[in-house]
Parts: sequence; C-alpha cells; structure tokens
Amino acid sequence: MQRLDKILSEAGAGSRKELRSAIRAGRVTVNGVTVKDESEKFDEAAAEILLDGEAVELLRPVLIVLNKPAGFLTAADDPRQKTVMDLIPERYRRFGVMPVGRLDKDTEGLLLLTNDGQLAHRIISPRHGVWKTYYCEHEGMASEEDVHAFAEGLTLSDGLSCLPAVLIALGEGKSAVRVQEGKFHQVRRMMAARGMPLSYLKRVAEGGLWLGKLALGQVLELDMGKTERLITSPCDFDEKNLLANCVRNSQSFGANDEKL
Ligand code: URA
Repeated sequence: MQRLDKILSEAGAGSRKELRSAIRAGRVTVNGVTVKDESEKFDEAAAEILLDGEAVELLRPVLIVLNKPAGFLTAADDPRQKTVMDLIPERYRRFGVMPVGRLDKDTEGLLLLTNDGQLAHRIISPRHGVWKTYYCEHEGMASEEDVHAFAEGLTLSDGLSCLPAVLIALGEGKSAVRVQEGKFHQVRRMMAARGMPLSYLKRVAEGGLWLGKLALGQVLELDMGKTERLITSPCDFDEKNLLANCVRNSQSFGANDEKL
C-alpha cells in the first residue's frame, strides 16, 4: 500500500506538487471513485488510476530487448553522442530502465534493458555464467587450432586471461563466438589475438534468448518470468537458431515486429 501522490509520481505522471493539486482538484479517480486526499493509500498492483480520465501506467518491473544499431553508445546519457536511450520509448524510460551490460558503439544486436537491478546482476555476473553469442565478420577463416585455443581459454597480449569460450567457423571470414563474460572489447580482442580482426560484430543471443526477427532499432517488451528462465538457465547449443541469426541485420530483417 502506498500514498496516492507517491504512486503517481513514481509512475512519472508529474511532480509531487503538481499531483497534489490535481488530486485536490478532483482530477484523479481510483477504481472509479474520485479521491481528493493525496495521502490515501492504495495497493498499486490492484488499483486502476485515471488522471483527467486517462489511465496512468503504474511503475512495474520491465525487461525489454533492443536490436541495437551501430553508432549508439551503451550509456544512460551522454552530452555529445547518441545513446541507446534515444531508441527507448518514453514509457519505458519513465520506468527507469537501464542497459544490462554493454555493447560497443559499433556493435549491433541484442541488448537487454531493465529497471530490475537484481535481474540485471543475475544476467551480467560471470558467476552466473550466462552465455552470450555473437556473430562476427573478420579477416581470414577460423581453423581447428583457433577453435581449440578458444576452448582452452585465451590469454590476450596484455595478460588478460579469458574463460573457455566457443568459436564456430561459419565460412570464410564468418564465425560465431560464445563467451560467458563481458570484458572490455572482449570478442574483438579474442578474435584479433588469433589473427582475425573484426569488421562486423552483432550479439545474437543471451542464454537461450535469440534476437530473432526484431527489426534494427526496435524494442520489444519481454515476459519477465518466462524470459529470465530462458536467459539464465543453462542452454544447449542450438544450431538452427545460430544459423538463422548469424547474418547481418541489414540483410536479414524487414521492418516487422514478430515476437521473439
Ligand atoms: N565483445 C566486444 O568486443 N564488443 C562488444 O560490443 C561485445 C563483446
């Protein structure tokens, strides 16, 4: 149970002062009844609140997925550059969603955002070992030795040791990489360390959640309960999804919003 003015301000419906005067002026109804006392308490999970006759969308935990285009920083805001938040609809920004982990400015693909800090931690923390799958275009072709070196755990030139990872050759200049951690420029540096500098990088999956047909720059709200399990439970390698997703965004996806 929460005070009416607090529920409304957390939902981003206005400042506490504006909301107090709206309530006192009789502009707010709760479950069909006009409420003029801002201190009256309600169960926000069950209350249907209208302000000036319009339903107020109340704060709730949300998990959304963005197909991030290149050229956007993964940051909450930046004074000079475009950020992924510029692509997020206002209704989710009001809920305080933040990126879960980060993709480089030039990387495309699956980026989760949530306002649930604990869920974000479960997805990012290497302790939970969620596999992140990437599609790479690069110089050369991945060899058996490269696959073996990834599986053993690479040590990069600056001494950084990487956890065992999976490298799958998809053809000349094309590979998939699966890692369980997210160190700075990790996939780029791992591929460069094996003589295969990248020209294109796209994240195609986190755990068992695939990007699918979500159009570039588009956002989809996920069912939190179902998706958390899909992301965080151990997932088997899924060749069919891998091949369908390991293509450049621009070639593969039309402007449709088919569900993941
Ligand atoms: N690894 C990288 O090098 N860049 C990313 O954006 C993600 C993983």
